[in-house]
Amino acid sequence: MSVTTVLVVGATGSIGREVVAAATAAGLTARALVRDVERAGRVLPADTDFVVGDLTRADTLTDAVHDIDAVIFTHGSETGDWERVDYGGVKNILAALGTRRPRIALMTSIYVTRLGEGHDEVIGWKRRNEWLVRSSGADYTIVRPSWFDHAAATDNRIVFEQGDTGDGGIRRDQLARVLVEAILTDTAIGKTLEVFAQPGEGPGDWSALFGALDPDTGLDGAHDATRVPLEDEPAQIQLDMAAVGARGN
Ligand SMILES: NC(=O)c1ccc[n+]([C@@H]2O[C@H](COP(=O)([O-])OP(=O)(O)OC[C@H]3O[C@@H](n4cnc5c(N)ncnc54)[C@H](OP(=O)(O)O)[C@@H]3O)[C@@H](O)[C@H]2O)c1
Repeated sequence: MSVTTVLVVGATGSIGREVVAAATAAGLTARALVRDVERAGRVLPADTDFVVGDLTRADTLTDAVHDIDAVIFTHGSETGDWERVDYGGVKNILAALGTRRPRIALMTSIYVTRLGEGHDEVIGWKRRNEWLVRSSGADYTIVRPSWFDHAAATDNRIVFEQGDTGDGGIRRDQLARVLVEAILTDTAIGKTLEVFAQPGEGPGDWSALFGALDPDTGLDGAHDATRVPLEDEPAQIQLDMAAVGARGN
């Protein structure tokens, strides 16, 4: 399916804003999901196509998902409301889509599988988000960014890894470009990757870069060293995975 209109979730955020710019630069129509029109007016270009909705309420998301070809998820709670915003947002967008399955790029984080290192609660919800997307039946790419802005202006080489063992940084504009290229590149489908910036030249061949990665199998990312069994999760999480899978497959 060719992508024309992409819904940017978290469009007023530090990464979402860059994604709106990168998608527009790639010739796509970026539809920005915003919950505060005044804020959107301050941080997004005046000609941005935006739609109002709250990720915690599925009933507000119908207009957002109307006739979209792709979704890029970049949202996150600033107040620790990860279950309702980070996880609930993905669950509610998938619910609003019904049986439709546009192309998806989901931003999570490095360390998402590394338990016991101080961030188990937030990474737990991000890991479950990855499960929702892998269960959904959509053509997806999951991008696990390294630390924002911990990269120099000359670190133009994009490095993808798998297995969630690496550490490093990425510029926000680079991350946005990766998320946009992910929805435009067939070899990115069904893959989960960590992304880092290193000294060197920027990528010329996105198809080759994504194509060198291994596809995921089942609920986890390819090569993930740590796997949390779904059977150990609360019953509601298991029900959510079953429900999203039943709609999309
Ligand atoms: N910092 C790092 O180095 C790093 C590395 C890897 C991953 N991450 C992850 O990246 C994410 C942060 O990205 P960021 O800097 O772009 O975040 P941000 O600037 O705080 O943006 C968050 C976005 O989510 C939106 N949002 C929050 N609640 C919402 C709701 N109920 N309905 C609709 N939209 C909602 C916000 O909208 P408003 O503008 O209306 O608030 C905003 O657009 C976090 O989840 C973090 O865990 C961070």
